[in-house]
Amino acid sequence: MVDLSTSYLGLSLKNPLVASSSPLMQKTETAQQLEAAGVSAVVMYSLFEEQIINESLKLHRDLERGTESFAEALTYLPDFGQYSIGPEVYVRHLTRIKEAVKIPVIGSLNGVTTGGWIEYAQKIEAAGADALELNLYYLSADPDLTSSELEASYLKLVNDVRKQIRLPLAIKLSPFYTSLPNFARRLVEAGADGLILFNRFYQPDFDLELLEVVPNLVLSNSDELRLPLRWIAILFGRIQADLALTGGVHSGLDVLKAMMAGACVTTVTSEFLQNGIGRAAEILAEITSWMEEHEYVSIKQMKGSMSQQAVAEPAAFERANYMKVLSSY
Ligand SMILES: Cc1cc2nc3c(=O)[nH]c(=O)nc-3n(C[C@H](O)[C@H](O)[C@H](O)COP(=O)(O)O)c2cc1C
Repeated sequence: MVDLSTSYLGLSLKNPLVASSSPLMQKTETAQQLEAAGVSAVVMYSLFEEQIINESLKLHRDLERGTESFAEALTYLPDFGQYSIGPEVYVRHLTRIKEAVKIPVIGSLNGVTTGGWIEYAQKIEAAGADALELNLYYLSADPDLTSSELEASYLKLVNDVRKQIRLPLAIKLSPFYTSLPNFARRLVEAGADGLILFNRFYQPDFDLELLEVVPNLVLSNSDELRLPLRWIAILFGRIQADLALTGGVHSGLDVLKAMMAGACVTTVTSEFLQNGIGRAAEILAEITSWMEEHEYVSIKQMKGSMSQQAVAEPAAFERANYMKVLSSY
């Protein structure tokens, strides 16, 4: 029998298949179904900085009602659809999920500024989470803001969250950094125990009839795996943090590639949304049968075996491969 176990953020996991942050976790039953289908941990959907600030603005508005002192700023409180639930509800829901499953439950905070809202990291810890993801999702449209300034503010945020909790902390990153390995190392110095590569930025579309910018969520496919795969392979062995791959994992082979690049776990959403939670069991069976066929005894044995430091041609991950790729067409 092959050994699928892995360790991530200090957690001993029975396999590297984790259900990533998504609305799937809005129902306790879905978390239980994911556990029954074999995933080794679940990540809660995110609690957003905006939700927490919104809630405190609402509270403030209630306290100030009739005083006229606060009206202007509060005329517009955005509606976040199904992500509109308040932070206290989020924390209670996390406790319920934690009670309903035996596998680790990872909380998720999503924000970009330091401020009072990060105290919710402590509440997530108190609610019983086994670790915390911090999703840095920000798209700068300001030509005056330099990358160093932005990175410095992220590092401060990570450090501020780190100070709030004892839980293992993983940072979910976007791929858009000029020197990702350097920023990754500084995130670890700021207190990150793990890095999750990568956040997907959802690209807005134009509705030409209404002349409106509209949200357009497209689920991933296996082609998207290559971006995080390359970066995990580059970072493995260079950064003292556990690496998680998210984006484009749809099959057992995708998981195996991530392990060989150097990931501790893969975290999956699109495949479960598209083809059902039962895919978890199938993916795990695919992994097992591939490993048996290729005479691997454990996931640990293959971890990082195709990282940049391990392969015969390290330049395959860098520019040197560029001309070769073009001429292969
Ligand atoms: C509908 C939907 C909701 C999501 N919500 C969150 C979220 O709240 N927080 C977060 O960090 N990622 C969120 N994600 C991103 C996923 O966790 C995951 O990282 C991403 O979809 C890439 O993985 P995939 O290719 O398996 O879908 C969401 C993705 C989808 C499709």
